[in-house]
Amino acid sequence: MKIIAGNWKMNGSVGALGEMTGRLAAVKTKNKVILCVPYTMLGVKSNKVVNIGAQDISVHNRGAYTGEVSGAMLAEMGVKYVLVGHSERRMYHDETNDIVRAKAERALENGITPIICVGETLDEKRAGKTLKIIETEVRESVPEEVRGNIIVAYEPRWAIGAGLTPTAQEIADAHKSIADTLSYMGLDGTPILYGASVNENNVGDIVSIKNVSGVLVGVASLKSDEFIPIIKNAK
Ligand code: PGA
Repeated sequence: MKIIAGNWKMNGSVGALGEMTGRLAAVKTKNKVILCVPYTMLGVKSNKVVNIGAQDISVHNRGAYTGEVSGAMLAEMGVKYVLVGHSERRMYHDETNDIVRAKAERALENGITPIICVGETLDEKRAGKTLKIIETEVRESVPEEVRGNIIVAYEPRWAIGAGLTPTAQEIADAHKSIADTLSYMGLDGTPILYGASVNENNVGDIVSIKNVSGVLVGVASLKSDEFIPIIKNAK
């Protein structure tokens, strides 16, 4: 069983998601499929194949925080998964590891599995700091006490939406480093997804790499013609 998570970012519509979930309902797969969508689409129901998830969660529980959505509100919508610390949140909304950890904690408190994203920038990669950066991000972004489930996603920032992927060895090294760090934190067995430029042609090779439990898919999750072959080829 692999985990295939899609991230629609700020794309799509209620209608498009309804069509996608309808198509996914007919797919025969043992994989766990998650689609993280904008808040406005969370009313679209999950089905036996796909779980509808969110892309963000507030660090606050309630109160005067205009525009924020709390963990309890997500849980009320039936949300079981939420992305936290996606690189676009870290980049455009200045989310630090401390903020990401607080968001993951709010998710866990509400019975929601956070998908905690980590990954290095191009400058960090060029400086040979990839493993150091992702180890620090995992140590600081994963809650100290995990009651419930978490998922970690390794997304090299330079490869997202760029049609670029690291080499198989680079993915293997990054995932081993994350697995070792999680093990040190007492979180052996935590699923670790790879994300950035995953498509139907490379997914089979990527999920066969050691310590890769599945994938997080951006642009290729938007069209059922691209997303369904990814689900089928991930084994
Ligand atoms: P991509 O995005 O698959 O379009 O590279 C991945 C992501 O940002 O989660």
